[in-house]
Amino acid sequence: MSDHPGTRRPTTAELFNGAVAASAICAAFELGLLAELEADGRVDSASFAARAGLDRAALDAVILGLRHAGAVAEGEGAAEGEGGERFLVRGPAFGEIWRDKGYFLWLFGGYGPMLSGAARVCQAGGWPSSTNGRDGGAIARAGRDYGAMFVDSVFHKLVSSVPHTAAADLGCGSARRLIDLAARAPEARFVGVEVDPAAWSAAREAVREEGLEDRIELVHSDLAALPDGAFPNVELVFSFFLAHDLLPRERFLEILAGLHRAFPSTRNLLLSDTYRSEQAADPDCPIFTFGFEYTHGLMRQQLPTFAQWCEIFELSEEWKLLATHELEIPHSTVFHLAPRNDPRAAVLSRAG
Ligand SMILES: C[S@@+](CC[C@H](N)C(=O)[O-])C[C@H]1O[C@@H](n2cnc3c(N)ncnc32)[C@H](O)[C@@H]1O
Repeated sequence: MSDHPGTRRPTTAELFNGAVAASAICAAFELGLLAELEADGRVDSASFAARAGLDRAALDAVILGLRHAGAVAEGEGAAEGEGGERFLVRGPAFGEIWRDKGYFLWLFGGYGPMLSGAARVCQAGGWPSSTNGRDGGAIARAGRDYGAMFVDSVFHKLVSSVPHTAAADLGCGSARRLIDLAARAPEARFVGVEVDPAAWSAAREAVREEGLEDRIELVHSDLAALPDGAFPNVELVFSFFLAHDLLPRERFLEILAGLHRAFPSTRNLLLSDTYRSEQAADPDCPIFTFGFEYTHGLMRQQLPTFAQWCEIFELSEEWKLLATHELEIPHSTVFHLAPRNDPRAAVLSRAG
């Protein structure tokens, strides 16, 4: 019997074709084709292939995928000076695909080998895997994109409500959030902690390109291994989409205790994460949710529901939950924590 009687299920052709088109969307994002269409409204594919050093036939395959998805359409006629080549314009689905492209990169770029090797990953002892693991660099690039689309407005509102002269981002990925904050607060100093070597290198490069090495310190470390008192002046600590990697619960609570010691002056800890929806089997579940629960299930992670996260914070001896703030990423929220001895009341609200 169906889990959701009466709901229209995609046909097998739609499922299959969607997976193929998703690969093309991911490629077009990484190659800069979507960005050129967004900026100029049109692309001459021959000239794009020549400028980017791409094989024309392979690029045509990606364009086929984009046409299938409705992201591009063929332009009418050929423009002067373009050697009679056809050109591409935005298709009817371009806006949505431009908005959601980070999710596609996250899934295919970040988890591609795991998806194709899922049967091996399922074997007892098949995870952690040296061949089917995650690509931290791709996940950092994807997070940079979907973070800007779906997280930043809530984040900046929250950060501006908690005064600080020094802030830290745990699992900072590409360091984009730190770079944004440094531009908005020229007097403030920042710390990023990142364990993945590829993501840490990408972050270092980005900070160097912006000339911010003197204001953004990037620490290559597991945040569970930060020494006590390491960052005595940091008043605000935040972390996006990392908390679930710190489970199970006992480990997570130890890490929370360690953070209290490593950041003794911190008055606000903003932990943002995606929680288990219990809707992933519903064909109408929103983008990201099913992929997030599937990949993390393959990695043996028991993702907490919203209520279970709140129960975990209740168990912390060092931190209490002040409020939560929903993000535009489906089933994702910012848990706003403060030290237990903070005078602010622990009011649990699901603010929008
Ligand atoms: C899903 S990504 C999110 C990146 C970034 N915060 C963002 O929102 O775009 C999670 C990041 O946390 C990092 N990470 C995971 N476990 C970590 C740990 N124990 N210590 C430090 N960083 C960690 C990962 O390498 C990855 O870059």
